[in-house]
Amino acid sequence: MKDTLLRFILNLRRPTKAANIKLLKQHGEALNSLLIREVTLSDIPALAALHVKAWNQTYPFVKRPPTFEIRQYQWEEQFKQTDQSWFCLIVENSQKELIGFAKGQRYTDKLKFEGELNKLYLLQDYQRLGIGRRLVGNVIQHFLAKGIKSMVLFSEPSNPSIRFYEAIKGERIYAEDGKFHGAYGWNDLAAIVPIFPKE
Ligand SMILES: CC(C)(COP(=O)(O)OP(=O)(O)OC[C@H]1O[C@@H](n2cnc3c(N)ncnc32)[C@H](O)[C@@H]1OP(=O)(O)O)[C@@H](O)C(=O)NCCC(=O)NCCS
Repeated sequence: MKDTLLRFILNLRRPTKAANIKLLKQHGEALNSLLIREVTLSDIPALAALHVKAWNQTYPFVKRPPTFEIRQYQWEEQFKQTDQSWFCLIVENSQKELIGFAKGQRYTDKLKFEGELNKLYLLQDYQRLGIGRRLVGNVIQHFLAKGIKSMVLFSEPSNPSIRFYEAIKGERIYAEDGKFHGAYGWNDLAAIVPIFPKE
């Protein structure tokens, strides 16, 4: 009940699709001018700033959210891992500003999945425009290219984005006690490729 109420409140705070289409036009931007590409070392400062902003928008009630310095340190540490076990895709607008990102990694924990969609964030002004679907489509292509055929994601039941995971065919994963804690699984990534836009 608490989760449902919080999800309802958070969902009310989200911008509408119409408002974001208007904003995009006001900024002289077009959806097809957004670029999705792999992150590079030189993106770290912009990625850390984006991470802070998008995370704060997603979890507005957290009193002491992670700072820019923390995020920068975390991404620097991530880049030191050069074993191809992870990737990060960023979305860049025509002014070369980062507006979203997704991180994928190999999954080796107890559930039977090969990949994990570990992070997924778009700035609020760019939500509800189909960019999330496009970004996850790219993540799936990356996983498949690495031979990773299934994917898991750990979210929270109070997050309105769980509706997004259901729209892209994620299946709820229930804990042993029968409770849903916000995890979703995709057993056959190749089978859902057709629901994502072609790049
Ligand atoms: C989750 C997120 C990446 C989705 O991206 P998006 O661009 O907003 O979603 P899309 O426009 O691609 O939506 C695709 C479909 O998902 C569904 N959907 C997405 N968000 C939804 C919501 N809050 N409620 C209901 N349905 C939703 C819709 O059916 C939509 O299809 P439609 O536009 O044809 O109706 C984005 O909203 C986001 O960054 N949210 C905040 C960060 C976050 O919560 N990340 C997850 C942390 S675990």
